[in-house]
Amino acid sequence: MTAATVPGATGPEAGVKEQVARRVLVLNGPNLGRLGKREPAIYGTATFADLTDLCQRTGAELGLDVDVRQTDYEGELIGWIHEACDNALPVVLNPAAFTHYSIAVMDAVKMRTAPLIEVHISNISGREDFRHQSVITGSATGIIAGFGFQSYVLALHAIKAELDKG
Ligand code: DQA
Repeated sequence: MTAATVPGATGPEAGVKEQVARRVLVLNGPNLGRLGKREPAIYGTATFADLTDLCQRTGAELGLDVDVRQTDYEGELIGWIHEACDNALPVVLNPAAFTHYSIAVMDAVKMRTAPLIEVHISNISGREDFRHQSVITGSATGIIAGFGFQSYVLALHAIKAELDKG
């Protein structure tokens, strides 16, 4: 947990009053660690490190403590989703290829205890037929796809809005 100054605070409490930033996991599945080298015509030339930096900067603006992770292993991704379930952590999830076939990831997402937004860099509905189906979406809070890295920025704003609903 990170202590963050209350955004927009004015008056005597400005810069003094602190609140604990809400922790958010940004979880990424297989091949997303290769961003920058991977099919740049589809995914762009920016790297996973650039994506991590963007998510952390966006989180800081929103008062969220963003933990960005990537794995090529289904079991590791499922373990991180369990961690989120056990600790009521909101999640931004790009399941990558698991999106289209992993019932195991879907079953983990079904146990969520906080908002979970599915994201995709590309517009999966505009690509090959096998990418049109997501087995995850029905168990997520919602889905954002097709806006490049901005999909993650929009998802973090959606998480913030969901948390603010109380
Ligand atoms: C992706 C889309 C998936 O179809 C693909 O397998 C990925 C990336 C995206 O972010 O656009 O690995 O999730």
